[in-house]
Amino acid sequence: MTRPSIVVDDLTKAYGKFRALDHLNLKLEGAKCVGFLGPNGAGKTTTLKMATDMIFPTEGRVLLNGESVRGNRERALSCCGVLIESPEIYPSLSPKEALDMAADIRNVPAAERKRRIDDVLAEVKMSDWADKKVGKFSKGMKQRINLAAALVHDPEILILDEPATGLDPRGMAEVRDIIRGLKKRNRLIFMSSHILQEVTDVCDEVALINHGKLLFYDTLANVTSRFSGGQSAVDASFATPIEVGISRVGALQGVERVEALDSTRLRIHFSGGPGVQKRILKDLVALDLDLVSFRESGNPLEEIYLEQVTKGD
Ligand SMILES: Nc1ncnc2c1ncn2[C@@H]1O[C@H](COP(=O)(O)OP(=O)(O)OP(=O)(O)O)[C@@H](O)[C@H]1O
Ligand SMILES: [Mg+2]
Repeated sequence: MTRPSIVVDDLTKAYGKFRALDHLNLKLEGAKCVGFLGPNGAGKTTTLKMATDMIFPTEGRVLLNGESVRGNRERALSCCGVLIESPEIYPSLSPKEALDMAADIRNVPAAERKRRIDDVLAEVKMSDWADKKVGKFSKGMKQRINLAAALVHDPEILILDEPATGLDPRGMAEVRDIIRGLKKRNRLIFMSSHILQEVTDVCDEVALINHGKLLFYDTLANVTSRFSGGQSAVDASFATPIEVGISRVGALQGVERVEALDSTRLRIHFSGGPGVQKRILKDLVALDLDLVSFRESGNPLEEIYLEQVTKGD
């Protein structure tokens, strides 16, 4: 089995004097999901479009599974499924008919078509809707068919530009769930997103860009620990007001500071990793203060994102 890869090599896109992308280098390799983050105008779509030959680099190149997208377009793109700027599907088509067209474009052999279409409909959880007209579908259902179309030739690489943006919370959760499922195959998924919770939930690694330049690329776990400087916080909720218990919580081993969020909720700051967090939870339960919930406070990725992006402005 080959290891899927995307190599972004010194990629630059200039519009006149303005550089939408400025010598970006990234090497993604193996079956995983990589989140591509950055504020509006950072250059994410520009990168993904160059990776799929929708626009051309001013300098540099992109290799998909070792093949140059410009030099050997057909081979490079044959292993890649793409969802950028979700196309409108003809409302009078059924998912089966729309996917048959996508399979045709992607040269899926006639003998395999039916099986592939059934497989991808199952992957995006739309099998029950296979013969209904797309025109009646919700936005989330249409997006699932677009995802199925990107998967119809069973690509090892999947390039998605904000796949859940514009969907309602249920649609977002469905897309997130499907992407999690897509990871079970030998697939490399490169996905831009503004939804940091989605990235935290489904991605193994994150690349952050701003003003066309890479700020960092690392595993989610490394990024979180590197930037948090070992400082963490958990939020604890209690069934009854906690006033008198605050000092007892503050005295627990490993706790650095306790912040009262309201009468029944505390933010407990501590240094150290999961081991310390586990001990604090155990000791907190032992204090018998009517604890009802205990979870990490905020989204560490959000804090890191804001810190890094505002630093460069
Ligand atoms: N055809 C074009 N001509 C001139 N400038 C362009 C063109 N296409 C994109 N840009 C500019 O390039 C920059 C990067 O745009 P891009 O769409 O890649 O950002 P993005 O990271 O995808 O942002 P968003 O999160 O809003 O989707 C932006 O400043 C944009 O205005
Ligand atoms: Mg974009």
